[in-house]
Amino acid sequence: MATYRLGVIGWPVEHSLSPAMHNAAFQALGMDNWQYELLPVPPDIVRLALREFRNHGYVGVNVTVPLKELVMPHVRPDERAQAIGAVNTITLRDLSATNTDVPGFMDDLKANGVDVAGKRVIVLGAGGAARAAVYGLAQAGAVIAVVNRTPERAEQMVEALKVDAMPMTLEAAIRVRPDLIVNCTSVGMWPNTNASPWPADVPFPEGVTVYDMVYRPERTRFMAQAEAAGGRAIGGLGMLARQGAAAFEIWTGKQAPVDVMLNAARTVLRARESAEKT
Ligand code: ATR
Repeated sequence: MATYRLGVIGWPVEHSLSPAMHNAAFQALGMDNWQYELLPVPPDIVRLALREFRNHGYVGVNVTVPLKELVMPHVRPDERAQAIGAVNTITLRDLSATNTDVPGFMDDLKANGVDVAGKRVIVLGAGGAARAAVYGLAQAGAVIAVVNRTPERAEQMVEALKVDAMPMTLEAAIRVRPDLIVNCTSVGMWPNTNASPWPADVPFPEGVTVYDMVYRPERTRFMAQAEAAGGRAIGGLGMLARQGAAAFEIWTGKQAPVDVMLNAARTVLRARESAEKT
């Protein structure tokens, strides 16, 4: 029986939770001849690596840092990936490529009962994660303010995405009472868990829903701040599982067992956290 191989390329890539998620999904669906691997690929050989994985019968790869932008000239990105300027899912047969961070984020908002149509949303950050969030939120009809440490990057991002979003200061953004605040920066991510993207001298708006794309730790300082101000906080693990689920469906044509993938990611994260505490 032929083996269907998939994997995640990145440099470094050892931390990726994707093998745990996808292999758990294969097991749950009895897909015994499917296998998902960690594939460390240095940036300078990415084109060669894609060709070799393809020649060796790999079905597809996920792409993580720092290769998401670098693979672009070597694949056929769809409209969404082109707009965002980054790819995270490649089908090797035809080199078609997309960015499943967008449906990952939007599906997770929906799964958590957060409707963004016509709602005021503040996006914190202007990197790759923020580009995916702003693209998805704009398509869903949100009214978007973008706040970034380096304001020029926010302006460049909005211009490049060609969406109706407003770069502004945090002070200006909170004056228009937000319904949702999304952290797309890396601030607060392990090991810097005491940090928050919310400045200490700005009171947290009361009763606001926040979404933190950071998933390690599962409950970030930013999430705790929102809850302390009477709001609701959602962590980024669901988005991670759902971007994986969207890739799984592209490659296999089967419905992904999202809960299995989410549980697998959570189990590995918790095991890592307890191993580091001992
Ligand atoms: P990614 O592709 O994961 O989004 P990135 O492109 O490096 O990563 O973007 C990281 C984001 O986090 C940026 O918006 C960055 O702000 P700058 O554009 O000003 O660099 C933001 N960020 C990172 N560290 C930060 C910090 N200590 N304070 C505020 N913002 C920070």
